Amino acid sequence: MEIKLNLGAKEASDADIVVMGTFSKTETKGKKEVTVPALTGWSKECKDILNSFSATKNFSGNKGEHTTFDWHGQHVHVLGLGKKSDYDFEAARRTASAIYNNLKNEGKSIAIQMDQFTAKGNLEKSCAAFTEAIIMTGYEFDKYLSKKKTVKFDTLIFDSKAKKTGAKKVQKAIDDAVIVAESVNTARDFVNEPPNVLNSETYAKAVVNDIKGVKGVKTKVLGKADLKKHKMGMFLSVNAGSAFQPQLVHLTYTPSKVTKNTKHIAFVGKGLTFDTGGYSLKPGGSMVNMKFDMAGSATVYGAFRAIAMLGLPIKVSCFLGMTDNAINSNATMPDSIVTAKNGKTVEILNTDAEGRLVLGDVLTYASEQKPDAIIDSATLTGACLIALGTEVCGLMGNDKKLAEGLKKAAAATDEYIWELPIIDEWRNDMKSNIADLKNIGGSRWGGTAKAAAFLENFVGEAIPWAHLDIAGCGDSQGHLPYCPKKGASGIMVRTLVELARQ
Ligand code: BES
Ligand code: ZN
Ligand code: ZN
Repeated sequence: MEIKLNLGAKEASDADIVVMGTFSKTETKGKKEVTVPALTGWSKECKDILNSFSATKNFSGNKGEHTTFDWHGQHVHVLGLGKKSDYDFEAARRTASAIYNNLKNEGKSIAIQMDQFTAKGNLEKSCAAFTEAIIMTGYEFDKYLSKKKTVKFDTLIFDSKAKKTGAKKVQKAIDDAVIVAESVNTARDFVNEPPNVLNSETYAKAVVNDIKGVKGVKTKVLGKADLKKHKMGMFLSVNAGSAFQPQLVHLTYTPSKVTKNTKHIAFVGKGLTFDTGGYSLKPGGSMVNMKFDMAGSATVYGAFRAIAMLGLPIKVSCFLGMTDNAINSNATMPDSIVTAKNGKTVEILNTDAEGRLVLGDVLTYASEQKPDAIIDSATLTGACLIALGTEVCGLMGNDKKLAEGLKKAAAATDEYIWELPIIDEWRNDMKSNIADLKNIGGSRWGGTAKAAAFLENFVGEAIPWAHLDIAGCGDSQGHLPYCPKKGASGIMVRTLVELARQ
C-alpha cells in the first residue's frame, strides 16, 4: 500500500473516496437537549451540505454512525466519532480499521481529512495510529487458499491543514508505524504457518532470512551439538522425541552509536512449533491449534525486527528456543530427571509442561550475555486463560521497575497486561524431594505464576527479568477490529517496541 502525506492541504486530495469525520455535541433546542454533529474544522460549504440533510437522515455524529454525500464529483463518507473527550489513539485505531473494512473494495484511493480524526491534538501520533491499524487490519493469511482475497484499496492519503514545515516529523511517524505494523504481521505469519511446514529447522532459517540485511543485526543458530556442548539438558529433553534438530536462534542488534550508557535488553521466546504434550499427551481437542505454541518467540522476534529496522538507540539480543514437543521411542518419559544448563536438576513429572524447560535453559544462556534486563514471552500456561481471560497478557518477574515499564508501555499502546505475584509458597511448590526442582506444582492452582516461579531459577543473579504469558492474548482477538477474527494476534509486539522506545 502506498501512503501519501499532504500537509498544508486546502481541500481534499483527488481520490476515489474522501473520508471525513465529526464528533458529536449536545445543543439545547427549546427545552430539549439534542445531539448534533460538531463539524469542527469543516469548510462552510461542507457544513452546509451536511446540515441540509443530517436531521432527516438522523446523523448526529454519534460513534459508529455513517453517512455519505457527493462533493465536486467526489464521493464523501462521513463517520460519527462520538464525544471528543472519548476519542483517544485506540479510538483512532478502531476508526481506521472501520474505514479499511468498510471501504477497501469501494475504491483504489482513499483520502482522509486527518484534522477531523486527530486524537489528543497530536497529528503525528494520530497518523501513526491510523497507519498501524490499517496495515494490521489488512493482514490476511491467505497463502494456502487457492482463491486469494483481493482488495481494491491501495493508496492512502492523509490530508491535513497543518503547516508543511511539520511534514518531516509526521512522515517519520508514519514510516515508523509501517515498520511496527509490518513486524506485527510478520509475527502473525510465523504463528499461522502449519507445523508440517514450520518446524524448528525451517523456522530458524526463515527468521535468519527475514532479518537478513537489516543494519546492525548479527545472527547465529545453535543446533543439537551446540546445545549438548552447553549442557542444555532441559531443552534437549523436550526435543528428544523430535524428528528435527532443536534450534536456538541468537540475534543481536547493535545500534550505530554505542556509549557506556547504551542499554542492553535481551528477549527470550518460547518457540514450540507444535506441542503434542509428549508422553503426557494432550487430549485431541486441546492439541488442535498447538502450532501457535511458538507465538512467544514470534512476538519477541517481531519486536526485535521492528526495533532494529527503526534503528532505536538500544542494544537488543533475541534468543528463540525452537523445537516441537513430539513422541517417539526416544521421547522423554515422565519421572525423568534432567540437568539444566545452570546445573540444577529437574524432575519432569509432566512432559506437557515443556515450555518452561526450553525457556529455563535459554534464560541461562541469555543471562551469560549480561544484559541489563531480560524479557521472555511464551504461550506457557492454560491457567493464564483461567486467571486473566483470553484478552489479557500475564506479567510476572523479579523487578518492580521493569514491570512498571512494561505496564506503561502496554498502556501507551492500548494492550492489556496484568501482573501476577510470585510468592514463596509457589517457589516451594516447585521443589522436588528427589531433585532440585520439579516441572509442575502440586496442584493446578496458580499455575501461571508457579511456572514463573520455576523460570526464576534460571535467570542470572541480579538480572532484572520479566515474563509475559501470552497463552490467551497471542491467539485470536476477535474483539479487536485490527486483529484477525481467527488466528495469531501479534499482541505484545507493539508493547515491547514501545518499551524499547522509552
Ligand atoms: N502450550 C501449553 C500452554 C497452553 C495451553 C497455551 C492452552 C495455550 C492454550 C503448555 O505447554 C502446557 O501444556 N502447559 C500445561 C502445564 C501443566 C501441565 C502444568 C497446561 O497449561 O496445561
Ligand atoms: Zn505443553
Ligand atoms: Zn507448550
